[in-house]
Amino acid sequence: MPLRTLLSEEQIRTRIAELGSQIARDYEDGDLVLIGILKGACYFLADLSRAIRREVFIDFMGISSYGRGKTSSGEVKVTKDLDVSVEGAHVLVVEDIIDSGITLNYLVSLLEQRKPKSLRVAALLDKPERRVRPVDVAYVGFRIPDEFVVGYGLDYAERYRNLRDVCILDPD
Ligand code: IMP
Ligand code: MG
Repeated sequence: MPLRTLLSEEQIRTRIAELGSQIARDYEDGDLVLIGILKGACYFLADLSRAIRREVFIDFMGISSYGRGKTSSGEVKVTKDLDVSVEGAHVLVVEDIIDSGITLNYLVSLLEQRKPKSLRVAALLDKPERRVRPVDVAYVGFRIPDEFVVGYGLDYAERYRNLRDVCILDPD
């Protein structure tokens, strides 16, 4: 399937550096736990965490709401839970993309029950037009149009995750 570059490696790197500085400024003290949502956020978490010039802790959660296709099943399932307690810690959920908002809306209410000191969301990409459930996103890398994108962690049926750019995947 044909790929068109939407965001280059360079644009992504520059934007993540800005987000990292902003996040370091916003969290002056306290433990900061970055929670990467598997698998799509793995590169974003790796790069964002190194752009935040302060101590951070890292953990992962596995959430599935999509199956293998391009459209949401509407069903959210935790496939891997946290290893650490986040009670009393600043929690920043690190996600690749917010589309319908179903995944993050569910995850935020789940994590709120664990009594973090604060809870915010950072998403590399946001497709605001597609939102069906509200999500309060504190840090957004790029707002993008309603196109299906792959690369930099994002997949189509598990393919294309290791592309260095974010690309639009054209059908046919
Ligand atoms: P939401 O629950 O609809 O917000 O979907 C979020 C999840 O759907 C993301 O973590 C991605 O795994 C997947 N997703 C949504 N849009 C895209 C896309 O354009 N490309 C690849 N995956 C996507
Ligand atoms: Mg995915």
